[in-house]
Parts: sequence; C-alpha cells; structure tokens
Amino acid sequence: MKFEYIPGATPLDPDEIAGLMPLHITTQGQLNEWEAANILKAEGWLFSTFNHGNFLTIDFVRLLHKKMFEDTWKWAGTFRNTGKNIGVDSSKITTELRNILEDAAYQIIKQTYSADEIAYRFHHRLVWVHPFANGNGRHARLMADLLLAQAGETRFTWGKQKLEAESLVRTQYINALREADKGDYRPLAVFVRS
Ligand SMILES: Nc1ncnc2c1ncn2[C@@H]1O[C@H](COP(=O)(O)OP(=O)(O)OP(=O)(O)O)[C@@H](O)[C@H]1O
Ligand SMILES: [Mg+2]
Repeated sequence: MKFEYIPGATPLDPDEIAGLMPLHITTQGQLNEWEAANILKAEGWLFSTFNHGNFLTIDFVRLLHKKMFEDTWKWAGTFRNTGKNIGVDSSKITTELRNILEDAAYQIIKQTYSADEIAYRFHHRLVWVHPFANGNGRHARLMADLLLAQAGETRFTWGKQKLEAESLVRTQYINALREADKGDYRPLAVFVRS
C-alpha cells in the first residue's frame, strides 16, 4: 500500500512498513480506521485501570505504545533505530526520555507548575524526542492525558477533533508545537484546552 503523509507526520522506512500486521489493509483509510480501533481498546485499558503505579518510567512509556499499536505494528512498544526528520538521534532516546520522566515526576512533587503546564511541557518534550517510528503524537497526547488524570485533573481537549487528518485544527496544533520548539509555550497552553 502507499502511505499518505499529512504535514507534521513522520514518514516510515521500508522495514518499518514491513511490520504492518493486518494483511488485508491496502488503503490509508483502512489503516487509519484499524489504528483508531486499536487505540480505542488501549484507552479502555488505560482509563479503566485506576492506578498505574509509577507511570513515569521507560517501561510504561513502551507499554502504552505497545497497547496502542499491538494489533497494527510488529514494532509496537519498541524504540526506533532509524533517523527521522524530527526527534533526537536514536542512540539518545533512552537518556533523553529518562530526563523528561524525571523532570515531570519532580515537577509534580514540587508543584513547580500547574498540572496543565506540567502536562503540555511533558507532551511537547515527548514528541520532540520522538521515541517511536510512528504514533508519537497520539502516544504523547495520551501520556499527557494520563498525567492529568493521575493528578485528578480533566483530560486536555486537544482542539476537540481528531488530529490525525489534515485540518485547520491540526495546523494550529503543529504550529503550537513549533512555537514550543522555540521556547514559547503560550500557543500550546491555549491549544490543549481549546
Ligand atoms: N515541529 C514539531 N515539534 C514538535 N513536535 C512535532 C513537530 N512536528 C510534528 N510534531 C509531532 O509529531 C507528531 C507526528 O509524529 P508521528 O507520525 O510519529 O505521530 P502520529 O501519532 O502517527 O501522528 P499524529 O498524531 O499526528 O497523527 C505530531 O502529531 C506532533 O505531535
Ligand atoms: Mg504518524
């Protein structure tokens, strides 16, 4: 099948594409639907389990990605070993993630920022590292929502529509992340509750 990449999405390498599990899938639309069903199942698991213990660990980051894509990609839950147009060098993923997870845990304990600010900074840094070959946006949005839920706060609204397709809202989201790349978190702060 031929993959269509919307702006801000990460293209896959041939060996990553070879990891597609459902063999009947021939169109991007079918893949999107399949992935969405897989993620819905993962969300059910995620939010019906009241306490995930320490979810700010490398193991949990990988487990959530695994649950979200285990019916879709053979490499679900494993870090990429390819370079992408966004993200750190693949050899630095574990180290960078460890810093991000430690920082978030520290910020929660010390209440350095509001829960919202901890969550959107966490989200931005996760997508900036880009640990996986695909699914980073959706995974990092769910990680941020989990952080909020564990803090007793409501989930972000993320523009109130699917961000997987090209749309004005998706452009706003990607632009807000680009501003955050430059150190200005204000557009992202507004976006996540819009
Ligand atoms: N300039 C940027 N700075 C930080 N993050 C970015 C930037 N551009 C894109 N991103 C993030 O990368 C994600 C795309 O990566 P990937 O394709 O791995 O995730 P995805 O879950 O498949 O995508 P999406 O959620 O967008 O459908 C975007 O959703 C966004 O979160
Ligand atoms: Mg993608």
